Amino acid sequence: MATPVRRAPLGFLGSELDTLQQQGLYRRLRILEGEQRPKATFDHRQVVNLSSNNYLGLTTHPRLREAALEATRKYGVGSGSVRTIAGTMEIHMELERRLADFKHTEAVVVFQSGFAANAGTVAAVLSKDDVVVSDELNHASIIDGCRLSKAAIKVFPHKDPDAARRVLKELPASQRKLLITDGVFSMDGDLGAVPDLCALAEEFGCIMMVDDAHASGVFGKNGRGTIDHFNVHGHVDIQVGTLSKAIGSLGGYVAGSRTLIEFLYHHARPFLFSTSHPPAVAAACIAALDVLTDEPHIIDRLWDNTRFFKGGLKALGFNTGLSESPITPVIAGEGALAMKLSDRLFQEGVFAQGIAFPTVARDKARVRTIVTATHTREELQFALDVFGKVGRELGIIN
Ligand SMILES: Cc1ncc(COP(=O)(O)O)c(C=O)c1O
Repeated sequence: MATPVRRAPLGFLGSELDTLQQQGLYRRLRILEGEQRPKATFDHRQVVNLSSNNYLGLTTHPRLREAALEATRKYGVGSGSVRTIAGTMEIHMELERRLADFKHTEAVVVFQSGFAANAGTVAAVLSKDDVVVSDELNHASIIDGCRLSKAAIKVFPHKDPDAARRVLKELPASQRKLLITDGVFSMDGDLGAVPDLCALAEEFGCIMMVDDAHASGVFGKNGRGTIDHFNVHGHVDIQVGTLSKAIGSLGGYVAGSRTLIEFLYHHARPFLFSTSHPPAVAAACIAALDVLTDEPHIIDRLWDNTRFFKGGLKALGFNTGLSESPITPVIAGEGALAMKLSDRLFQEGVFAQGIAFPTVARDKARVRTIVTATHTREELQFALDVFGKVGRELGIIN
């Protein structure tokens, strides 16, 4: 037998990584030691943490922690099955009932993540003869769901309902259409054109869907999201929320009519083919809903901190884009500069992750900051001072 030729079939992956290194875009994972808190230790360095989605500090809230421990003691650490076989526990159903009540919808289905909720739902509801009309900055999970559905994808410029209207006008009245936007855009922190798109959905008979991942726990009464913030209850057919950001634990959900939820129970592939949450996760999420109802001052603190920090960055002269939420980008321009900014901030004691192409446009690389309700004023002022020093050093501000 001939001596086998030594092959490296995955060698091209290494070349791709080398290219990222050369472009200054290679991302090393920062390792968190201990809890996810506003002041935390990453890579052995204590920093003011402006990189989490832990808007309300619920990852370490005593009521959630205790609920998770209690559920673990009572029910064990896993559900042991997918929902449709043996993995639907009473606590999963309780969470869905509580979320439906909170969102003022008939029913809710919980998925393992917000990603699974978006991708699984779009792919289940649409098929190849349908069309999706989607904001250009919608989240990757929506884009993947659209691709999986095999529906035609029509993208309209960011937050441009007039452009969406022109797209819709060209489509046959008989064709099934899904009009979809993020409630809050995750990289820019601005709000989707929800009311205008709802009006279009009505005019053109579209299914209206909003991904409220970054609005859950942040916008609307007690954190009910943009549908409540804009008072468009009843006008959004499919509301997606996440349990992984402000809610402090893990998961995603779809809120809507009982028919929609029953349909997803039968057709959404992440629901059908992936194991359900450990009971501790469901219990923590239920406790989070109690906190949103009983302790709304936490949301007020989030907004106070947001105003303080965003105002401070603007006063320093940074380009913070059009953010309307606790997500504030600090736009540096070129990818390597954004990564340099992030690295220097970290050395000086502030963690704000650099984000470059393909996550954002090539010339809009940035560090993304997210304040939380649990940051102290001193921590935020310290971060502003560091931003000022490093921003001047790198010539981003004067
Ligand atoms: C807009 C948006 N939708 C959905 C998701 C996915 O949520 P999850 O982290 O729960 O999977 C994210 C998370 O980054 C997001 O930013």
